[in-house]
Amino acid sequence: MGVLVTRDISVRPYQPADDEFIARVAREAFDEFTPRAAQHTLDMARHFRTMLAVRGETRVGFLTYSGRSGDVYVVQAIAVSRRERGRGIGHRMMQAFEALAHAEGGRRLELCTADCNLAALDLFLRRGFRISRRRERFYERGQAACILVKDVQG
Ligand SMILES: CC(C)(COP(=O)(O)OP(=O)(O)OC[C@H]1O[C@@H](n2cnc3c(N)ncnc32)[C@H](O)[C@@H]1OP(=O)(O)O)[C@@H](O)C(=O)NCCC(=O)NCCS
Repeated sequence: MGVLVTRDISVRPYQPADDEFIARVAREAFDEFTPRAAQHTLDMARHFRTMLAVRGETRVGFLTYSGRSGDVYVVQAIAVSRRERGRGIGHRMMQAFEALAHAEGGRRLELCTADCNLAALDLFLRRGFRISRRRERFYERGQAACILVKDVQG
């Protein structure tokens, strides 16, 4: 499904002008987990490294991550604009993240998502992540989370 639709999608680094988009999509995606979704996600986007998925000038998604060569690369947040979901954009950003971690000498990939988040679990499990552990009441609104990991292929 994704391949045809994501042909016109590219991934570029974060710019401060992306803040309004990130705040809007974070509210859409994460309000159900935390009352501080927009501010918390913006703080992470500025503090860690962030990539934006764009179609021409139009922003469609973002992925924030941390990592150091020889160590673990962590997806801190990933979200796609609601009307753009299910078209392979999440897959495309994960591909870019994994390629970058590999190029920089990352050893392992890690991320965390709600255990009730079928769309996210489906995306990550199909990309070869496995569930390493579960954490009860991880989110501010009480949902449990799964930690998922994947070794970087040499
Ligand atoms: C999780 C998320 C980033 C996925 O992005 P996306 O662009 O919709 O994902 P893709 O289109 O690349 O889909 C990847 C796979 O997930 C599956 N998928 C997508 N939406 C789905 C849904 N609502 N339910 C079940 N599976 C779904 C698709 O089958 C697809 O597999 P395929 O390419 O073999 O068909 C997006 O749903 C989102 O922004 N959710 C809100 C934020 C979030 O939950 N982030 C993750 C936790 S940090």
